[in-house]
Amino acid sequence: MQLIDGKAISAQIKKEIAEEVAQIKAAGGKTPHLAAVLVGHDGGSETYVANKIRTCEEVGFKSSLVRFEDKASEQELLACIDRLNKDADIDGFIVQLPLPGHISEQKVIEAIDYRKDVDGFHPINAGRMSIGLPCFVSATPAGILELLKRYGIPTRGKHCVVLGRSNIVGKPVAGLMMQKGYPGDATVTVCHSRTPNIREICLSADIIIAALGAPEFLKGDMVKDGVVVIDVGTTRVPSSETKSGFKLKGDVAFGEVAPKASFITPVPGGVGPMTIISLMKNTLLAGKKEIYS
Ligand code: GUN
Repeated sequence: MQLIDGKAISAQIKKEIAEEVAQIKAAGGKTPHLAAVLVGHDGGSETYVANKIRTCEEVGFKSSLVRFEDKASEQELLACIDRLNKDADIDGFIVQLPLPGHISEQKVIEAIDYRKDVDGFHPINAGRMSIGLPCFVSATPAGILELLKRYGIPTRGKHCVVLGRSNIVGKPVAGLMMQKGYPGDATVTVCHSRTPNIREICLSADIIIAALGAPEFLKGDMVKDGVVVIDVGTTRVPSSETKSGFKLKGDVAFGEVAPKASFITPVPGGVGPMTIISLMKNTLLAGKKEIYS
């Protein structure tokens, strides 16, 4: 069994991005600028956004954080998005999800200029991705593919089972795994809460991408020997062992599955660090106007 070290790979890519940013600056080019919009004080969102801002600093990007209270109106948020769309210094921005219930996430996502949508959530980016056109690919799916690539894990003709059908992970990663070329060319099955026989389907999988948000869902008796397992789960569960009072639990019963796997990602330290680094890569592409001019 080989552990897929997302922390080490993301550190390597971070170095690559920082070097490129330094070159851009040395040549008198524009410093890439990412803005993040955070509504409310959800613990998980606070941590994710703080990590994104910190990583911007580490790679040499400019960053801005725009905060709203929980009770902010949809109109206020849409006005902010309009400002960010028009701000020529900002190359890309994200609105951290989830949003409070009185604000329509879809309306907010569609208000973002797709050329600045470094999360890749806008229907134009999602649509272009699904037909293989240049676009901003959302960060977690992009990070997963980068891990497969950097570990040289074969995907052509393999049976890839995706657990979960979210717009952020399940659907896009399934689309990417079936695209022509590497890492792709896989035969993809998507399972979700209404799928019968998930165990049988998983037992025939060469690669399993677990993105359900159900802690330790994938058990040892659901996988075959030699399987490649990518665990996207990051459920926060209370814990007396950590200073913060919680710990992250993946969708995979790691202790049971790891001994049977050829490659497996840990939680934390697997997909998580790759997600942030993919966002940085998209911001760099946005700064260079490489996808949309
Ligand atoms: N909430 C959970 N994951 C994400 C993400 O990748 N981007 C944004 N904007 N919100 C999230």
